[in-house]
Amino acid sequence: MSGRYARILGTGSYLPETVMTNHDLELLVETSDEWITQRTGIKKRHIAGPGEDTSDLALAAARQALEAAGRRAADLDLIVMATTTPDRVFPSTACLLQQKLGVHGCAAFDVQAVCTGFIYALAVADNFIRAGQATLALVVGAETLSRLIDWTDRSTCVLFGDGAGAVVLEAATAPGVYSTQLHADGDYADLLTVPYGVSQGYDRLRQGEAYIEMRGNEVFRMAVNTLGRIVDETLEHNGIARSDVDWLVPHQANHRIIEATARKLSLPMARVVVTVHEHANTSAASIPLALDVAVRDGRIRRGELLLMEAFGGGFTWGSALVRY
Ligand code: ACO
Repeated sequence: MSGRYARILGTGSYLPETVMTNHDLELLVETSDEWITQRTGIKKRHIAGPGEDTSDLALAAARQALEAAGRRAADLDLIVMATTTPDRVFPSTACLLQQKLGVHGCAAFDVQAVCTGFIYALAVADNFIRAGQATLALVVGAETLSRLIDWTDRSTCVLFGDGAGAVVLEAATAPGVYSTQLHADGDYADLLTVPYGVSQGYDRLRQGEAYIEMRGNEVFRMAVNTLGRIVDETLEHNGIARSDVDWLVPHQANHRIIEATARKLSLPMARVVVTVHEHANTSAASIPLALDVAVRDGRIRRGELLLMEAFGGGFTWGSALVRY
């Protein structure tokens, strides 16, 4: 195979210091460690401190990824940030990250696809690199979802956490990223949403009453079915068999959703990177966080084939097939 591709040079991640366990949540709402563990696999989540913004989490993950890649921030020609919890309405969190990295001039923008955000951002950066418009790209998923949580709603407050993950992509003559598959269906907008923003319900937002609202059961069913389909689509598109995939690096929302996708791939759980118990659902941050954990602990090695997939608000869903 010849041509121009994007290859992952380095990975990084960051979790805020403050940890909130299931037992801590038992003090806030009527729930139990047993219920949360059985239904979701989650044991704890990290919560950003006051004054610790999405761009701060992103900065820590980005610095690690650049160091692992052996590249300087000044050499980046593209920054793509996936987030649903931007620091400000504008400028983009990517621009604020660029400022914190102390670099100037390269393209920087945000991508909003909720839990599928990292896959969307990776696809954008991959296409920039393939098209020759970028050579060294930073792709970050970072979230401070704790700021959108109603801490009196037990059906959502147990599910989410804060964190960031990053990858540095560089142009290469072999993959790298083989393909990305992106989808969305806005008909499902109301099943998983923060239904207030700048042009809709701004008063609620200003009063600090904008929270994640979710019909969990329906989201669960759709996620399982849709992720099964996108696994097939990815394998077919690339003409590969399930057995060719070395690692599933899924979005970390719920261990039951992850297990269902692994079954679809006939992959033993030992070949699936699971971190949801450690940090709950960190939306756009969860895939690069999981990837970084498995790279750093030596599970994922150079040359192995990774299938990444995600499903989230929108609905949006997507996948990426990547040789690490
Ligand atoms: N503690 C104790 N009980 C609870 C809690 C809680 N935290 N939350 C809900 N319950 C109760 C409900 O009130 C209900 O009680 P009832 O039977 O008396 O009415 C009971 O538990 C069962 O509730 P369900 O919603 O049917 O439970 P389910 O098995 O569907 O699990 C869950 C709920 C974990 C939210 C699941 O539906 C899920 O994971 N959905 C996917 C949601 C998700 O991950 N969203 C994130 C974004 S999308 C994505 O990333 C994939």
